[in-house]
Amino acid sequence: MASNRGYSHPRRFIPRRQSILTVALFTTLAFVSSIFLLLYGFAPKEDDILKDDTRLEEPLQSQSAQQQVLLRFAFLNFEKKGFASWAAFVNGTVEFFMEYPVVSDENLWGASRSHGLHPCIKPTVRHKAAQGSDHYITVKSNGGLNQMRTGISDMVAVALIMNATLVIPQLDKRSFWQDTSTFSDIFDELHFITTLQDDVRIVKALPKELESFPRARKHFTSWAGMGYYEEMARLWKDYQVIHVAKSDSRLANNDLPLDIQRLRCRALYHALRFSPSIESLGKKLVERLRSQGGRYIALHLRYEKDMLSFTGCTYGLTEAESEELRIMRENTNHWKVKKINSTEQRVGGFCPLTPKEMGIFLESLGYPPITTIYIASGEIYGGEARLSELKSRFPNIISKEALATAEELEPFANHGSQTAALDYIISIESNVFVPSHSGNMARAVEGHRRFLGHRRTINPDRKGLVELFDKLESGKLTLGSSFSRLVQEMHKNRQGAPRKRYGPLPGIKGRARLRTEESFYENPFPECICRSKKAF
Ligand SMILES: *[C@@H]1O[C@H](CO)[C@@H](O)[C@H](O)[C@H]1NC(C)=O
Ligand SMILES: *[C@@H]1O[C@H](CO)[C@@H](O)[C@H](O)[C@H]1NC(C)=O
Ligand SMILES: *[C@@H]1O[C@H](CO)[C@@H](O)[C@H](O)[C@H]1NC(C)=O
Repeated sequence: MASNRGYSHPRRFIPRRQSILTVALFTTLAFVSSIFLLLYGFAPKEDDILKDDTRLEEPLQSQSAQQQVLLRFAFLNFEKKGFASWAAFVNGTVEFFMEYPVVSDENLWGASRSHGLHPCIKPTVRHKAAQGSDHYITVKSNGGLNQMRTGISDMVAVALIMNATLVIPQLDKRSFWQDTSTFSDIFDELHFITTLQDDVRIVKALPKELESFPRARKHFTSWAGMGYYEEMARLWKDYQVIHVAKSDSRLANNDLPLDIQRLRCRALYHALRFSPSIESLGKKLVERLRSQGGRYIALHLRYEKDMLSFTGCTYGLTEAESEELRIMRENTNHWKVKKINSTEQRVGGFCPLTPKEMGIFLESLGYPPITTIYIASGEIYGGEARLSELKSRFPNIISKEALATAEELEPFANHGSQTAALDYIISIESNVFVPSHSGNMARAVEGHRRFLGHRRTINPDRKGLVELFDKLESGKLTLGSSFSRLVQEMHKNRQGAPRKRYGPLPGIKGRARLRTEESFYENPFPECICRSKKAF
């Protein structure tokens, strides 16, 4: 039962005699049960708990049913933490509740106070629909699911600015996920068209007679503003069709008319609904998760092969794994940076947190070991073995594969974007969303949760955390209440509370500044989140 967790653990235990033990055990039980009820408002379910451990027989005989459940549960968890004996367990249980500062239920699970804020996406009185029925924009959407969703929403706005009819976009089939899904496999196409009918005309396909016409093929500049697209509208003098080769980040985050910004929100949050089969399975899985323990955390554990290879982060990996990732990066043409110093990446806060680091992080924030955690991710690099470093702290880790039946998942197999859509739905509906890395999914989910009422999203300060983790490793800090307090203090203002979108980083001039702005879809406040209820 040796603990092999890498970080040094400060606790040492000396077994005592049986009589002292029994007294200690009784005190502990009373303490543990009151703490459980106080903290979590419910007792853990018997099913979740180790049933036939013979070591439990003797101490359980004289306990009430309720105490037995708690004791078993506590034993399961503390045993996993490497406690060698009963004495150690009893001592450790008491110590655990003394060491970890009690975080109130509201601070763990509650949505941020919204201070009377509401979603607002109605057009203003000045809003004019695009009429350009004889000018068409065709789009090739690029990237993963969320990059495509935000890109498509931008293209709806671009069609309005350019007074054009939008043809249902083609989706990326060449990204890392190699998904052959079409628009209507992922989205409810009819709903998309009708929801936006008062804004932009959208058609399923280019009219036959235009197919052979010459098209202007454009690679629109990134983060472009109104002026750029008004200028581009001159192309209509020579062309009836403009083909857009890439849809990601083609529209600026800021300095656009209010009606354009609200249209982006209508497109993303209302019009781009997932297809009925995805929506219905997503809902079912959310209900299943809720029935398991009421509340759950959706953890976007971006510890996937492509991300590790792309970022060059090899901390905690074997030599062979590091080499595999290096070769993958060498061979991926569109990843420009090939030589990466993993240490510098990690210290700079540019690496996804590892499963083990996420475990320490959530524990330090005060989430109890019984917390249900849904893993909203693709395949974790290193598989079960690496995930077990998180499971040792949080046994109730649930993957898609465990939550859904094989038959339910079968239609989604080999369709990365469709399974990503399931993760998206489950993440939006979770009580708490925690991404281990920034990225399109993390940003899109955070923004949508803000829009829906500032549901709690915890954004790890990766740079700050890595500094703390390194101090644990070198023995300068130990796990416990003071460590927890450091982590909690660091994340006080990173939990999705209402605030306006950040502007560009100071000191950066010219177009480069546009890149440093907070993404519109990460925080659509103030344009799509307002004080007044009227605009809803
Ligand atoms: C647990 O054991 C350690 C080492 O024997 C001791 O110093 C500590 O006071 C004990 N904690 C409790 C809560 O009994
Ligand atoms: C939009 O296009 C329609 C049809 O092509 C045209 O009649 C109308 O004047 C255009 N509107 C603007 C604002 O350019
Ligand atoms: C990576 O960067 C660290 C810190 O700057 C440095 O100590 C180390 O030697 C570098 N490693 C390589 C392989 O360059």
